[in-house]
Amino acid sequence: MIIAIDGPSGAGKSTLGKMLAKEFGLLYLDTGAMYRASALAVLRAGVPLEDREKVAEIAAKAKIELVGEPDSMRVLLDGVDVSAEIRTPDVATAASVVSTISDVRKIMVDHQRAIGESAENGCVLEGRDIGSVVFPNADIKFFLTAKPEARARRRFAEDQAKGRSTSYEATLAEINKRDERDVSRADSPLTIPQNATVIDTSELELKDVFELMADQVRKLSQSSTAV
Ligand code: DC
Repeated sequence: MIIAIDGPSGAGKSTLGKMLAKEFGLLYLDTGAMYRASALAVLRAGVPLEDREKVAEIAAKAKIELVGEPDSMRVLLDGVDVSAEIRTPDVATAASVVSTISDVRKIMVDHQRAIGESAENGCVLEGRDIGSVVFPNADIKFFLTAKPEARARRRFAEDQAKGRSTSYEATLAEINKRDERDVSRADSPLTIPQNATVIDTSELELKDVFELMADQVRKLSQSSTAV
């Protein structure tokens, strides 16, 4: 079973994707973490983000692995744990630039398909193009969204809890900038995939969103075992 979760940053994709993966014993793949790891490789190499050819070359060479359980997943770049480093604002910005490069996207999509297809019990993948490009025939597609202010509030609270110094205004500005880049890029822009269930999480409790999603998964599991 392949479950695709798409949506803008801060809509709750990671939290809910991990919860679903745990509940149904599926592999969990955070595809944004892969773009972030390749962006980190580019930053480390000191290559300007505008040099699209070199950036793609570095992304092709970088060995990116996601290991461990959904809650304690670690991201390895060339065998070294970079899970914390890829969460900095600089890497987030670089990832959103790097992810506009088609050659980079090709590499990532191939890698994501291979991981999803080889997952024994199925896989939950979350990102921006899962239901539209990576797995257009996914068994279930969700599009999670929320108002920018709600997403910025959540992200700001997370950053504060992690002791990062930032402001709500800066977080909101960053979210708006990334949204703009994600929806306006030429290759695989963020869109609502065909047949996706759209959930606006702005005013919903996490557990209620989870129940909505889990319900669909249960129904599908039941209908496929009933045949
Ligand atoms: O979900 P995230 O914030 O960790 O993603 C980091 C960046 O990668 C984000 O700017 C969008 C991009 N991305 C993408 O283009 N396609 C995906 N499937 C996942 C993420």
